[in-house]
Amino acid sequence: MSVARLITHNFRNIEGSKTDLHENLNFVIGDNGSGKSSLLESIFFLGHGKSFRTTKLENLAKHGQTKFVVSVKDNLDTQLGVSKDFLENQTEIKIGGEKFNKLSELAKNIAVQIITPESFKLFFGGPKERRKFVDLGLFHVEHSFSQEWKDFSRVLKQRNAGLRTGLSIDKMKYWDEAFCNHSDRVSKLRGEYIEKFKQEFSIWIKLMLPNIESDIELQYLQGWKQNTSLMNVIENNRERELALGYTTSGTHKFDVRFNLNRSPVESQLSRGQQKLFLLALTFAQLKLIEKLNRVKPILLIDDVGAELDTQSRMLLNNAIEKLNCQVIVTAIDKAAILPLVPTNNNYKMFHVKHGKIFEMSE
Ligand SMILES: Nc1ncnc2c1ncn2[C@@H]1O[C@H](COP(=O)(O)OP(=O)(O)OP(=O)(O)O)[C@@H](O)[C@H]1O
Ligand SMILES: [Mg+2]
Repeated sequence: MSVARLITHNFRNIEGSKTDLHENLNFVIGDNGSGKSSLLESIFFLGHGKSFRTTKLENLAKHGQTKFVVSVKDNLDTQLGVSKDFLENQTEIKIGGEKFNKLSELAKNIAVQIITPESFKLFFGGPKERRKFVDLGLFHVEHSFSQEWKDFSRVLKQRNAGLRTGLSIDKMKYWDEAFCNHSDRVSKLRGEYIEKFKQEFSIWIKLMLPNIESDIELQYLQGWKQNTSLMNVIENNRERELALGYTTSGTHKFDVRFNLNRSPVESQLSRGQQKLFLLALTFAQLKLIEKLNRVKPILLIDDVGAELDTQSRMLLNNAIEKLNCQVIVTAIDKAAILPLVPTNNNYKMFHVKHGKIFEMSE
């Protein structure tokens, strides 16, 4: 889908807004603190039921207010919206006139990805962010994943409780067995997804880093010793896990690593190249979501100017065109986005000023 109209009320510093977006390309410029990231955050919130900058949803309501609303009308005129009332502790979700309670309902209808200046630091900083990235794609393309993951997490919790409380070995064996079964099921889905992802990624990395693309290799680490059954690993680790009180191997510990000439890319690519690399990963995932889920995802790029030179921005421009999804890009000023602006008039430009969003006419 794409957002045809975005309506917000008391979201961060944006008191009220009604913005008609372009179905493909949108630029948002404005000074520091004007509300650009807040605008993206409102769309991100609809897709994820959370923010990319805070875990406290109260922070999203305008200072002094206890309620906020975000809603969109999509390209087919369907309205999706959330209102959060912190005083009443109520969340109201409406999709096409129907009411829902769970924010996860929204994620079924709208797939949103964001890239910020921080996201590549997070991505290369540790496995947690990489796991989140992969599983977001998996969630959108493999509908059984969500349930499989929930079942696995429940068994993991039980097994950890067993390790902590020193459950008898017989009872522990029951949880070992269940844990290995669920871990294998999740791992199988993920392995299949990563295979598809690899193929899509090879297309986008060629576009973004044409000079080094052929030397990049994606390595999927399943979360326990490769080519070994998880049960064997668990049995060998029994003493250690009992001492620690939690499960150290399993599909929850998976990782994806990217190597350039057999060493991690993050130790070799420049900051700008790392950003292009992350863009290629994100584009690959979005395209896969579109192909397999038949939902057109939305890409948000916050503060595009940071780290990308003109040549890199042109590569990005070319990739955005090929992506053919709705994209919203923010920048401090026009100069930062100039290499991204197409020569045709097939885009919209907005200016944010003190929490107010204006469409600019060229
Ligand atoms: N809950 C809130 N209510 C009102 N204002 C808020 C709230 N949370 C943050 N702000 C303020 O909103 C303003 C806009 O923040 P935002 O992060 O969207 O700016 P930005 O345009 O992305 O700036 P930058 O270019 O520095 O990234 C900031 O001045 C911030 O302090
Ligand atoms: Mg910002």
